[in-house]
Order: sequence, then structure tokens, then C-alpha cells
Amino acid sequence: MRKIRRPASRKPKPVSRAALSGEADPRLVRMSVSIQEDGALHPQDIRGSQAHVAMLAARGIIPRKAAETIRRGLDRVRREFEAGAIRHDPRLEDVHTHAERRLGELVGRAAGYLHAGRSRNDQVALDERLFIVESCDRLDESVAGMMRSLLGQARRHQRTLLPGYTHLQRAQPVSLAHHMLAYVEMLGRDRERFAEVRRRAAISPLGSGALAGTTLRLDRERVARTLGLDGVTRNSLDAVSDRDSAIELVFACALCAVHLSRLGEEIVLWTTREFGFLDLDDSFATGSSLMPQKKNPDVAELARGRAGTAIGDLVGLLVIVKGLPLAYNRDLQEDKRPLLGAPRMLVETLDALSGAVETGRFQVERMRAALEGGESLATDAAEWLVERAVPFREAHEAVGQAAAFATATGRALSSLTVAEWRRFHPRFDRGVLRCFDPERSVARRDLPGGPAPRRVAAELARWEKVLRRRR
Ligand code: ARG
Repeated sequence: MRKIRRPASRKPKPVSRAALSGEADPRLVRMSVSIQEDGALHPQDIRGSQAHVAMLAARGIIPRKAAETIRRGLDRVRREFEAGAIRHDPRLEDVHTHAERRLGELVGRAAGYLHAGRSRNDQVALDERLFIVESCDRLDESVAGMMRSLLGQARRHQRTLLPGYTHLQRAQPVSLAHHMLAYVEMLGRDRERFAEVRRRAAISPLGSGALAGTTLRLDRERVARTLGLDGVTRNSLDAVSDRDSAIELVFACALCAVHLSRLGEEIVLWTTREFGFLDLDDSFATGSSLMPQKKNPDVAELARGRAGTAIGDLVGLLVIVKGLPLAYNRDLQEDKRPLLGAPRMLVETLDALSGAVETGRFQVERMRAALEGGESLATDAAEWLVERAVPFREAHEAVGQAAAFATATGRALSSLTVAEWRRFHPRFDRGVLRCFDPERSVARRDLPGGPAPRRVAAELARWEKVLRRRR
């Protein structure tokens, strides 16, 4: 390692102002600086630079010695970034120029070889693709963790019954396991989406230059291989201005956040005294600064609220790209906040909500009590008639009248006598009374995708197997 040169006392001209006179106006500087956000891309930036410089040397474009000096210098720059020791200089704008300038301070003239055949335009496109690939891997872990928490509860509660709801009105009984597995399905699709996003992102744009490639004989495939990417982009104009992968990642994050928001909403409802279906562990509950009795489901509310932020990130990104002429435009710098923010926020949300679900205690008796009265078994009574050759519409009407009668007389539907049932349809006999057994009702809804215990057990086993598989 070369001797570290003292930073010059006279401020050197930023690398990007070669043809410009004087300094940028401070108001422009304040507006265009992005290091506070894209500084987070330093691991990707330095990885990309090291792959690039190794290739330049292998191709004989730059001296081997200079390449080695740069490689080691960049290791040091990385450590300084990690330690938070890189001093931000707004005139240097972004992570790329900060890294290059610091490298220059550390290794001197040799640093000038690094940027041959490269532009910040293809450099930032690469950094983002590397970030997206890593984010997808990280998200996959957290989504899998969330799925495991749900599966754990599903396994415990295969026999726990509760009303399924439509319009938030009691509809038909299901098992809690079936309910949990509904979220597992959503998250399973999220995982597939992250894998898809990863696949399309894992391509190297380096060698696209500012927009039109370079006269230097770069080995683009080698750089891609070094970085563990699966190939190179095929059009330089597209490569430097394309943000599809960023948008796709943030979309996948937003949709996953929407799924968590729905789960969050149910947790909020279920932890109310009114529902009482779920008791969060105290370690995942919050109190009130004023009301001493409070136990609040903030974790679920934040999950719900953060879906709003994620959707905002997605819309923001789409609108930034809309209307941009080819190729690179500085508007694209505004993509950092949503791109860097959405996956970080989602990982946090997944991990916390996963803990809340894993440690929550479902109130089996309360769920069971919500099935009392039998109104959620009305459909079974109608289907009982259908099995006795009554047209469904006629059956629907008859049971509807019976339900209205029960309500009007303050009775439970399950308490009607055979004689009363017969008032609403002559085909009724005492067999209909057997419909008012929730276990039997759930067991008889035995179709693929249905809530019957054996169907649910099979789905549970299938998902557990999927999650045991290493990606
Ligand atoms: N900070 C810039 C961005 O993220 C890097 C590319 C700058 N390119 C340029 N021609 N000014 O978009």
C-alpha cells in the first residue's frame, strides 16, 4: 500500500467539472448532492470498480501495477465507508465521485486509471442492479421467516374453528389453519416475484459507457462473471436509462407490504376486546404514554401504515421515469430514496410482524363462541336441500326466510325445530339439524383448495416442505 497523501489544503476541482469554469453555485450544489442517500451503495460501487479494474488490466488497457494499487486502495476506501470515515463533500455529489476522490487521495495518480471506459451512468446502473440482487436474497429470507411463523400457528390450529368473513360479516366456518395458509399463499407469490425480479436484474450494464459504449476493448462478460451476474445488457442506450428492475423490486415490495397490511388489519381487529381472537405477546405489544391499561398492536398498525409508504415509493419511481427521453437524465438520481428505502422497510416489517405472529396466542374459545347460533351454517342448510333435488335458488330463498324468522324472534338459527324448518320448505326433515355442526360442515367442504382438515393438512405439509428446501 502506498503512503497516504494528505488531502490537499486547496480544494481540488470536482472530477465532473472538467470543462466548466469556477465552482458550482452553492444552491446548485445543495440541490444536486446525493451522497447522503447513495452512500449506502458503497459496497456495490466498490465491488463494481474492482471488477472493472481487474478486467482493464487483464485486457492490457491499464498497467497491471496500477490495477493492483487501485484494488488495494479500494479495499481501504470500503473500510473507511464502513467505518463512516468518508467525509461528505457536497461538491463531490455522489458515492461514485466520493469513492474515486478518496482513492486518489490514498493512491495518487494511479487512481486516474480506474474510470477508463466507464461512466457514472453505467456505474450507477450496475450498483443498483447489484443492490437489487442482494435485496431480493435478503427479502427472500425474511418472507420465508414470515411464512414459517404462519405455518407454525397453522400446524397448532388445524382444529381451531372460527367464522370466515365476507364484508366483515360472519359467513362460513373455516379452520384457523386454513386462514393462516391464505397468507402463506400470498407470501409464496411474493417470494416468486422477488426471484423473478432478481433474475432480470442480474445482468451487467457496465460497458455501456455514458450512453453509447466505448472505443476501448472492454471484456464485458468477464466483469459480469466476476460479479456473479448472468450476462450483459444488449443495448447501451437502454442500459443506462432503464430502471425497470428498480421499479419491479419496489412493486414487489409494495405488493408484499399490501399483504402484510391486510394481515396487520386483521391483527388489529382480532386483538380488540370486541373480537378477542388474538392476544399478542407483551414483547410485541406497546403501551400508551397516558392510559395505563393499554396494550396496543402498534406492530400491526405500522405494517398497515407502511404499505402506504411502499405504494408511494412505487408511484414516485414510476413517475420519475415517465416522460424521460433516452438516455440518462439526472432525474434518475431521484430513484435512490424509494429504491433503497422500500426493501429495507419491508425487511424490518416482515421480521417484526413475523415475531408477533409466532408469539401471539389465539383465543380458541372466543373464536368458537363466534360460531354459536349457527348463522354461519345457513349455506349448509341450503345445500342440504340442493342434495335433495331442490333448485338452489329455491333453497336459498327458504333458508333466507328461516334466518329472518330466527332473527325476528330472537332465536338462534341452530335452535329451529324440524317443524319450524318445514314451514319454509316441505323437503326439510330432521336431517337438516345435522348441518349445525361446525366441525362436520368444515370437514364436508372437501375440495381442492377447501378448508376440510385433510385438505388443509396436505397444504400445510406441502408448504412446510417448500420452506425446508434451500433456494
Ligand atoms: N448520482 C447519479 C445518479 O444516481 C450518478 C450518475 C450521474 N451521471 C451524470 N451524468 N451526472 O443518477
